[in-house]
Amino acid sequence: MPAMRVNNVPTRSLWPTTDARAVAIIDQTALPHEYRIHRLSTLADAAHAIRSMQVRGAPLIGVTAAYGLALAMRQQPDDAALDSAVATLGATRPTAVNLHWALARMLEKLRPRPPGERADAAWQEAAVLADEDAAQCRRIGEHGLALLRPLAEERGRLDIMTHCNAGWLATVDHGTALAPVYAAFDAGIDVHVWVSETRPRNQGLLTAWELRQHGVPHTVFADNAAGFLLERQGNRAVDAVIVGADRIAANGDVANKVGTYLKALAAREAGVPFFVAAPRSTIDFECASGTNIPIEERSGDELRVIHGVMIDPSPVERPERLSSLRLLPADEAVANPAFDLTPAHLISTIITERGCTAATTDGLHRLYPEHAHA
Ligand code: MRU
Repeated sequence: MPAMRVNNVPTRSLWPTTDARAVAIIDQTALPHEYRIHRLSTLADAAHAIRSMQVRGAPLIGVTAAYGLALAMRQQPDDAALDSAVATLGATRPTAVNLHWALARMLEKLRPRPPGERADAAWQEAAVLADEDAAQCRRIGEHGLALLRPLAEERGRLDIMTHCNAGWLATVDHGTALAPVYAAFDAGIDVHVWVSETRPRNQGLLTAWELRQHGVPHTVFADNAAGFLLERQGNRAVDAVIVGADRIAANGDVANKVGTYLKALAAREAGVPFFVAAPRSTIDFECASGTNIPIEERSGDELRVIHGVMIDPSPVERPERLSSLRLLPADEAVANPAFDLTPAHLISTIITERGCTAATTDGLHRLYPEHAHA
């Protein structure tokens, strides 16, 4: 599968700048309205980018944190600075375990080295992590395609529902949930994607933007329409649901973007297979079950205020601009859990870079025998 493209130019979601002094990202808070490249030059820049969701999606959060540590080592490479940078980056977002996985990998490489060697070593290791993530997502696409092919052959077409954005914007390249979709599309399968809007941060709009760049037919729907679309028997509208994950517990429970659980329930009721696609870095073998996964609670302003492009009656005089609109009074009480838990028994299959498995401890151990300690 070739690298993803923006306006036909091969693009990753982040890349080191040519002077190797900074890392470039696509500012995802401006999409789908504006395509802005943003430069991260310091540890503080990287931590801010993760916290503010300029970069987001579990695998991309991990790789950004790795580069953040590399930038920190450029500033100050001693042990105290190393520990402090790991603590700063580790505190940015709590649910995606890829963040801690990437920082642990980096620490393992950096701790034994003399401070003077740490900056270069960190830069190289962050690049290795980025390349590994892209390669793993490509393989998720291949394994997912093998799962989807029989469904497509049965109906002569394929309708996939997804939630949030688990495409290449959420990883380094290819995506997780969208990797099988891109692989199916590239293999000539007649595929269409139902894209859930994903309030309150509307990551579904990022999915729609990505699919549009690649030419994949898709339809955006309001989150509340998922049940209706899934239960339409007879003239079935959805062949499978595929989502990503922020953390998969050792027993196969999955934390993913809030709204995932309701889709899994509706899919089970409708007899639609529910697939979760994620790389090894998303599996937390130390976490026994979903109830141990910390769920991020984000600012209530994400519900109280919406962002978009103002539709101006006189666009010539005042071109379209990004604007914010208040929906609720600033003191209105709101709850804003960013993720929810889908129990393993609602998941048909987990797709990883090593293949497909049932969402069970045994299934995960079969794919990753190195974690099957007695
Ligand atoms: O809050 P976000 O946008 O970082 O949440 C992202 C998700 O929930 C994705 O589904 C998940 O990280 C998988 S990304 C390949």
